[in-house]
Amino acid sequence: MEKIVIGGGKRLSGELKVHGSKNSALPILAAAVLTTKPCVIHNCPRLTDVDAAIRILTYLGCKVEREDHTVVVDASGMERSDIPDHLMREMRSSVVFLGPILARMGKASLSTPGGCEIGLRPIDLHLSAMRQFGVEIQEEHGRLECICPGQMNGAKIALSFPSVGATENIMLAAATAQGRTVLVNAAREPEISDLADFLNGCGARIHGAGEGTIVINGVKSLSATEHTVIPDRITAATYMTAAAVTHGHLTLRDIIPAHLGPVIPVMEEAGCDISICARDLTISAPPRLRRVHTVRTMPYPGFPTDAQAPVMAMTSIADGTSVIIENIFESRYKHVSELHRLGAHIKVEGRVAVVEGVPFLSGAPVVAPDLRGGSSLVIAGLSAHGTTEITGVRHIDRGYEKIEESLQNIGAQIKRVICDEPEDDF
Ligand code: EPZ
Repeated sequence: MEKIVIGGGKRLSGELKVHGSKNSALPILAAAVLTTKPCVIHNCPRLTDVDAAIRILTYLGCKVEREDHTVVVDASGMERSDIPDHLMREMRSSVVFLGPILARMGKASLSTPGGCEIGLRPIDLHLSAMRQFGVEIQEEHGRLECICPGQMNGAKIALSFPSVGATENIMLAAATAQGRTVLVNAAREPEISDLADFLNGCGARIHGAGEGTIVINGVKSLSATEHTVIPDRITAATYMTAAAVTHGHLTLRDIIPAHLGPVIPVMEEAGCDISICARDLTISAPPRLRRVHTVRTMPYPGFPTDAQAPVMAMTSIADGTSVIIENIFESRYKHVSELHRLGAHIKVEGRVAVVEGVPFLSGAPVVAPDLRGGSSLVIAGLSAHGTTEITGVRHIDRGYEKIEESLQNIGAQIKRVICDEPEDDF
């Protein structure tokens, strides 16, 4: 088993390039099964979730080659339409393969993704949309047996919640469906626009991605494309909090500042100076952070739920009391008990966390409960006095590429060590 060991209190400074977006690369890899021509995907991050998606593609019969951050997917040899339980369980967001497998094969068999550390993660919106395309779905024995007797037909779909995954599955199913699909109350995250750009690059006809209504005019078939994945806005936000808690000065290279629109005001309210030059963002932090009055997580362009945990770590050493309200997932505060072990004063009542800033945190052994909770422990450890040891590193590796190397490069005293203790499970 591995653990991350941090010697806190080091001021971070320098520059970092942010890896490609995990939450953009995953639906784009799934989209590759829609065409029998090879697709070239650049800036694909080297993450364990991406590895899991590649394993699914390979299982389905696709040929996948990866060279550094470029992945080439040739789905011409695809012959399966099922995803076995062990592959589904590796990554619950594998449900995004449902739409493209149905569109390509006319049928699909997946295990129900189930919940995860941050919530129940229902997929009712995905399934009701597939049924509107004409798909028949049997949910039994923990599996989804789906079949589309005829051609998938475009539909007018209104989502009760702007679900990112459901929006992606609908776009993926509609791209080659018969006729027009109009999707109302669509998710507006940048990853949705990136997926639309990829699909349109393959010859799809998708308009309105990034807005509340998306119109997809189905086409007979898709061709090949070469696409570069957008930078990961959540990793960028996480590294901004790392600079913030260490009175640091950091430049993030080759990001898309607009994607950080909801995050920048929070960092400025905490007392950080932020300057933007084209695709570079520079953040300078004060000696003592100020409290952030209220952070509400919302669908984009609201504050991203994925940045809630790192920002909570940041506010835990601010001067004053901050309030965080997690509106997206029902149990996304598992990192709070671990932050308590580092000396944070946080009180949670339902979806509301009240963070009373303390002058400093103190290093301790902690366990990463999930991906973003794990990143918040790294951020807290960077600022804490003394040594912090973090186990459950596999969670962090799902979404951050070589996090310890990136942080070492800007001055952090951080390393990954092999240890023989059994893997902690939160
Ligand atoms: C995507 O998850 C991201 N994952 C999540 O990032 C992110 O937190 C989330 O969007 C919100 O931005 C990927 O893109 C791989 P949702 P997704 O469907 O698609 C409810 C990370 O840390 N809902 O927008 O699963 C659901 O319960 C991960 O990188 C239904 O009720 O998110 C939740 O409360 C974590 N029924 C809310 O919608 C459904 O059918 C948001 O879920 C679907 C969702």
